[in-house]
Amino acid sequence: MKGNRHASRIWKGAMINKKSISLRVSLTNRCNMRCNYCRPLGQGNTRFPNGELSPDAWVERICLIRQAIPLEKVRFTGGEPLLYSAVVDVVAGCADLGIEELALTTNALRLPRYAKALKEAGLKRVNISLDSLNPETFRKINGSKLEEVLAGIEAAREAGLAIKLNTVVQRDSNFWELTELLEYAASKQLHIRFLEMMPIGPAAKDFDRLYVPGDEIREQLERIAGLEAIPYETGETSRDYRAKLENGTETLCGFILPTSTPFCDGCRRLRLDSHGRLYGCLAQPDTFPLNDAFESAGVGDLIPLKSRVATALSIKKRTQKFTEQAAMIDIGG
Ligand code: 5AD
Ligand code: SF4
Repeated sequence: MKGNRHASRIWKGAMINKKSISLRVSLTNRCNMRCNYCRPLGQGNTRFPNGELSPDAWVERICLIRQAIPLEKVRFTGGEPLLYSAVVDVVAGCADLGIEELALTTNALRLPRYAKALKEAGLKRVNISLDSLNPETFRKINGSKLEEVLAGIEAAREAGLAIKLNTVVQRDSNFWELTELLEYAASKQLHIRFLEMMPIGPAAKDFDRLYVPGDEIREQLERIAGLEAIPYETGETSRDYRAKLENGTETLCGFILPTSTPFCDGCRRLRLDSHGRLYGCLAQPDTFPLNDAFESAGVGDLIPLKSRVATALSIKKRTQKFTEQAAMIDIGG
């Protein structure tokens, strides 16, 4: 027993030291869209009451985490991170800490307002959700205007941010449109990734009806494009291909298949919400409170923070247990 405990401590240490962590920070659980699989109409409150941190508090927390573990990359998520009005200050604070890989996942509605300032603050890349190019389908999926999101994509491009598009595939709405989305991405020279739906939060209820497995997504795209695999690095979420379209254009096209083909091997992602809860894995209901560990770290004792992170990492690769309780609106993508 004693031996086991010792072994497990060595293993946890190794987990942390092996490779750098990528931290996803959920700045807010508010959102200005209503994606049917995340925040459908009629769903008012999220799992936890909303409570947001000041930008200084965020930067301090991220700084403490960086003292405790090798932190290479921070991605800001939500809800919708651009509803957190001090988002530019948090990005600038993280850039001042010396974190070079700063990214953000957004629905793009507020990018026309923020893209330039975010880039100047040190943001490198944005992942933008784009589920349809048909204004009616778009509105049906998320209640918003397609043209506003397309304007957000243009604003990100003009600001010089690297862009990846994310399309969550649903059987009853955008499945027949995937080739058009690929054509659009190729015409704009944008990297597009097609995501399998995960049975998490509100998506759990209609999952059997809406889920499309990766093989079918791929078949659909191969009607108009040859797909040439690009070497895959363990731990990456996306399997990427060079898509060569019949119309002569080319672009990068990826598949994120968390449901049929989990990418848990080598996963170094951790998620932190504004309530100080650390999530080791989207497919596990467990969360780990960090508020007391931040307090200790603030007075020089990093051990509780290190050990909580090690525990969060240790729940990866358990059998997947997506739940209706865990919700992307709280944890982000
Ligand atoms: N399954 C797959 N992707 C999801 N997203 C949100 N909820 C789900 C789900 N249930 C995606 C969003 C966005 C990113 C944050 O995660 O569309 O691209
Ligand atoms: Fe908002 Fe993103 Fe959820 Fe859509 S998926 S409701 S944009 S947080």
